Amino acid sequence: MDYQRPNHVETPEEQARVQRSEWQYLKIFVVVVVAIVLVAAISFGMQVNKSMGELVNERPAAAPAQTAQKPATVPASPTPATAAADAAKPAPAAATPATSAAKAPAAASPAAFAPPAADAIPEGPMGDVIRRGEQIFLHTSTQAKAFVGNTLNCVNCHLDAGRAAHSAPLWGAYTQYPAYRSKTKSVDTFSERLRGCFMYSMNGKAPPPGDEVLVALEAYAYWMAKGAPVGEKLPGASYPKVAKPAQAPDYARGQKVFNAQCALCHGDDGQGQRSGDVQVFPPLWGKQSYNWGAGMHEVDKAAGFIQANMPLGKGNTLSDQDAWDVATYINSHERPQDPRFTGNIADTRKRFHDSAFSLYGQTVNGQPLGQGTK
Ligand code: HEC
Ligand code: HEC
Repeated sequence: MDYQRPNHVETPEEQARVQRSEWQYLKIFVVVVVAIVLVAAISFGMQVNKSMGELVNERPAAAPAQTAQKPATVPASPTPATAAADAAKPAPAAATPATSAAKAPAAASPAAFAPPAADAIPEGPMGDVIRRGEQIFLHTSTQAKAFVGNTLNCVNCHLDAGRAAHSAPLWGAYTQYPAYRSKTKSVDTFSERLRGCFMYSMNGKAPPPGDEVLVALEAYAYWMAKGAPVGEKLPGASYPKVAKPAQAPDYARGQKVFNAQCALCHGDDGQGQRSGDVQVFPPLWGKQSYNWGAGMHEVDKAAGFIQANMPLGKGNTLSDQDAWDVATYINSHERPQDPRFTGNIADTRKRFHDSAFSLYGQTVNGQPLGQGTK
C-alpha cells in the first residue's frame, strides 16, 4: 500500500503550479552554480596574487623594478643576530651593505608568521630562562661549552636568532613536535630534537634529558612560537626545497661558485674567520664544522639553506644549479666523523646515509669521503 500517493488526477492548476515550482528550482540552481563559480574564481585570483607576492618578496633579485628601490626602503642597521656578529667582525667591506639588503624581504613577507619582538621577553623567572635560551642560541660555543665540539653557534644556521623564515626558525619548529623522525626511528619531543642538534650540528654531546641548557632553549622556542598554531606547518618553516637542477650537481662548478661568492667570508680554505676568541664567519668543513651526521651535510638541505640565505645578505640570488653545485662542493670535504660510526665506512653509509643526498662513503674528485677529521 502507498499512503503517500493517493489515487488522484491533477487539475490543470495543479500541473501549472508544479511546472512553476520546477522553474523556481531551476532558477535557484543556476544562481547557486553562478555563486560557486564566482567564489572559486575570486579565491583563485587571491592565490595567484599571493604567490606572486611571495615570489616578489622572496626573490628580490628576480624583480628588477623592486631591486632598484630596495636599498632605499631598507633600514641600514642589520637585524639583531647579525648585529651581534657585526659588532665583533672586521667585516669585509662588501659584507655590510649586502646584509641589510636581503634580510628585509623575508621579514616583509605577508605570509610569514610574526614572532614577538626580540625585546618583548617578559620580566620574572620565566623571562630569565627565555633570555638564557637566547644567549645559548647566539653563543652556543661559550654558553653551553660542555656540549659543543666545534666553533659553531645555533644562530649560524638558524639566522636572526632563530627568527628568520626559511632557515628553520624556532617559531616554525616548536609546534611541530612531538614528531616521528626517520633519523631516530622514534617519536621525539622538542627537547629530544634539540639533543640531536648538539650531537651532530654542534659535533658535541647531547645534554642529559632535563638539563638546564635544554630547558632554556625550549623556553626560548616556546616564547618565540607564541600564537603559532600547533601542528600546522607555517610558511617559512624549516629549510626550503630547491628544485632539481638541470645538470647533475658538480664539484668543479661548485668550486667556482664558492671562490666567487663565498670565499670572501668563509675563507679560501672554508675555515671561516676568527677574531680573537670570536668566530666571526663560521667554518663550512673541517674539524670545527658540523659532523657527518648533521642535517647540513645532506646536499639537498644545504642547497635549500644556501639558496635562501647565502651569500649572507644576498639570499635568493644563486640559481638552483649554483646552489646544488656549491652545496656539493662544501659537502665533499672531510668533517668530523658521524658519532654513530660503526667502525666501517661502508657499513655506516648503509645504515645511516643510504641516500643520494649524502656524500658520506662516496668518492668525489678522487677523495673517498667519510674518514672524519682528527
Ligand atoms: C650546521 C648548521 C646547524 C647548526 C649549527 C644548528 N642547526 Fe639546527 N638544524 C639544522 C638543519 C640542517 C636542520 C634541519 C632543517 C630541515 O630539515 O629543514 C635543523 C633543524 C633544527 C630544528 C628542527 C627544525 C624543524 O623545523 O623541525 C631545531 C629545533 C634546531 N635545528 C635547533 C638547533 C639548535 C638549538 C642548535 C644549537 C644547539 C642548532 N639547531 C644548531 C642545521 C643546524
Ligand atoms: C658576507 C659574508 C658571507 C658570504 C659572502 C657568505 N656567507 Fe655563509 N655565512 C656567513 C655568516 C656570517 C654566517 C653565519 C650567520 C649568522 O650567524 O647569522 C654564514 C653561514 C653559512 C652556513 C651555515 C653555517 C656553517 O658554518 O655551516 C653555510 C652552509 C654557508 N654560510 C654557506 C655559504 C655559501 C655556500 C656561500 C656562497 C654562496 C656563503 N655562505 C657566502 C657569511 C657569509
